[in-house]
Amino acid sequence: MIRAAITAVAGYVPENVVTNFDLEKMVDTTDEWIITRTGIKERRMMNDPTKATSDMGVGAVLELCKKRGISPEEIDLLICGTVTPDMVFPATANLICAKIGAKNAWGYDLSAACSGFIYALATGSQFIMTGKYKKVVIVGADMMSRILDFTDRATCVIFGDGCGAVLLEPTTEELGVMDFELKSDGNGVNFLHMKAGGSLHPSSHETIDKKMHYVYQEGQSVFKHAVYSMAEVSASIMEKNKLKAEDIAWLVPHQANKRIVDATANRMGIGEEKIMMNIERYGNTTAGTIPLLLWDFEKQLKKGDNLIISAFGGGFTWGSVWVKWAY
Ligand SMILES: CC(C)(COP(=O)(O)OP(=O)(O)OC[C@H]1O[C@@H](n2cnc3c(N)ncnc32)[C@H](O)[C@@H]1OP(=O)(O)O)[C@@H](O)C(=O)NCCC(=O)NCCS
Repeated sequence: MIRAAITAVAGYVPENVVTNFDLEKMVDTTDEWIITRTGIKERRMMNDPTKATSDMGVGAVLELCKKRGISPEEIDLLICGTVTPDMVFPATANLICAKIGAKNAWGYDLSAACSGFIYALATGSQFIMTGKYKKVVIVGADMMSRILDFTDRATCVIFGDGCGAVLLEPTTEELGVMDFELKSDGNGVNFLHMKAGGSLHPSSHETIDKKMHYVYQEGQSVFKHAVYSMAEVSASIMEKNKLKAEDIAWLVPHQANKRIVDATANRMGIGEEKIMMNIERYGNTTAGTIPLLLWDFEKQLKKGDNLIISAFGGGFTWGSVWVKWAY
């Protein structure tokens, strides 16, 4: 059986650091509130108006190719999970491929908000498992600062900009993407969305005046759904595959809120020492959080480690992927 192994990981975050203290000067908030409610201390925000999500993707994918010693021309397919594409169309994946010279690749964007990376990982792995492709790049990238209302203290403090990427290659060993459980429920639309810029409310003076081009979130409702769903799906994939807490080397959880992560870990029976966290430095980078975690923790990973990767996001979308680390 051919499996899709992650053979390299890379990341890119903008240089510009925005601390909680910086936000105190912009909205009525405090460093203490943000840390206790979310765990975030600082986040990155792109301050060059000429740069967009694809430019972060370029940074991550070029590093990925360099680390693996391959040329961008060897990439067969590039999937980009994002809800902040450079433009409505063409796809950010196409722009990344063009900018790095991946001229033999095709690609597309995948819109699943904070679950964008795990949806793309599950999807991309199928092209490897069928034997169709040898090199598939999965990117998770979001420039949330471009869709935040910096007068809304309940949303602007939790998000940041960032991007990560992994390379999938075939293996016949018992390694790589082992299983996944993915879910969605469009009834979640009311709690987390961006109202305008699509076919329902095309951009107009009115949509601008009404601030309809920003992230709209009912934090408490999202929180309740996230705590329940992320914990359930993570426990479910373990039960289905007869994995016990002691079999898991790492929980790789979407970085939305430390309290959501703690609830998931509790349900799985996993101790704090096995949870990857970097929310304090980057905030919620939407599709970027999971590959950024893998990038940050890469040196601590060992071949054969069982990882449970879990996410929850707008849609609602959620799910878990079981990965056996391949190097
Ligand atoms: C957004 C979130 C951090 C808010 O935390 P919370 O504990 O639910 O806070 P609440 O919304 O109940 O607000 C509590 C109080 O803090 C206030 N508040 C909100 N943002 C604040 C801020 N940045 N600074 C200070 N006070 C703030 C509220 O106005 C409210 O005040 P009130 O009690 O006087 O009305 C939390 O709901 C959350 O993380 N939700 C999920 C987010 C998420 O996962 N989103 C991405 C999808 S994965």
